[in-house]
Amino acid sequence: MKALILSGGSGTRLRPLTYSQQKQLIPVANKPVLFYAIEDVIEAGAQDIGIILGPNKDQVIDTVKSRDWDARIEFIYQGVPKGLAHTILVAEKFLDDDFVMYLGDNILRDGIVRHEERFRSLGSDASVLLTEVEDPQRFGVADLNQDGSIRRLVEKPKAPPSNYALVGVYFFKPVIIDACKAIKPSWRDELEITDAIQWLIEHGYKVDASFVEGWWKDTGKPEDIFEANRLILDDITTRNDGLLENSRVMGRVIIEKDAKIERSVIKGPCIIGNRSVISDSYIGPYTSVGDGCRICGTEIEDSIIMDESRIINTGKIVESLIGRNVRIQECVALPKGNRLIVGDNSDISL
Ligand code: G1P
Repeated sequence: MKALILSGGSGTRLRPLTYSQQKQLIPVANKPVLFYAIEDVIEAGAQDIGIILGPNKDQVIDTVKSRDWDARIEFIYQGVPKGLAHTILVAEKFLDDDFVMYLGDNILRDGIVRHEERFRSLGSDASVLLTEVEDPQRFGVADLNQDGSIRRLVEKPKAPPSNYALVGVYFFKPVIIDACKAIKPSWRDELEITDAIQWLIEHGYKVDASFVEGWWKDTGKPEDIFEANRLILDDITTRNDGLLENSRVMGRVIIEKDAKIERSVIKGPCIIGNRSVISDSYIGPYTSVGDGCRICGTEIEDSIIMDESRIINTGKIVESLIGRNVRIQECVALPKGNRLIVGDNSDISL
């Protein structure tokens, strides 16, 4: 089996972070979201992985190549983004075998091994993953027959026929390429993967559904990233490879190599990245501090602080998503007040 992982798109709902960072590279528990997808497809047996690239292609290539993977990885540039089914056409030459298509901004707690085995044993032409959600309007939705087979798939319906959302993982035989060639762009001028699967259903191909049991997150919006961060941190195992001085660590906490915690309280679940220094601070539950950060005289909870950022004497920070190389500090100069140099589309609550 091959794997096609999508790492393009402009990530408008995650601005301003996505002005400088591809959305699939945003870290959850200090690991780019994209890496969870790569790990899942390798675990399910894929040895050839094609990664679809969009606007920040060099960044994605560099990040993926920064690690050794137990699979061959090929990068495929999509050019103008024209929908999920369009990525299959762009990757047509690569897709000469059965494959799993995995949206690189999705995270599944239990991976995809069980679903891959099911796809193989049923011999279907396509298998979609479904899960029950409260807000089906945000997703592709399946209308099911009484026997659980799929009657119809609709993309972001105003009146959803069910609460079963399409998870961003699909198994296909190469016939899906014919389907992607046959369909027309939707109202938003995209070739929709739901339309291509619907084409298979209407032309008598076998399409089945596999239900996701553990949690699943599409990390398209900041609140989804926080939730994914909480869910991943809930499963970590304590490890301390750093240095602790006059500090107290409670609960499950990962402290990476060369990190230094001094005169601070760390309450898990949380993770502190390589070379980060935490002084006179409280780092509370569900916080991921990236590599090379400096946090001093501050309380932080339920937040993601990305690499090389500095937070000095700022009071309490909660539910915050802080990018790389950010500096937040107490105002000491006169006149006192909040001094902000903030990029477009930022979101600040003081
Ligand atoms: C895409 C698919 C949708 C699916 C979702 C899962 O939507 O089009 O059918 O439910 O991924 O993440 P998008 O995230 O592109 O809006």
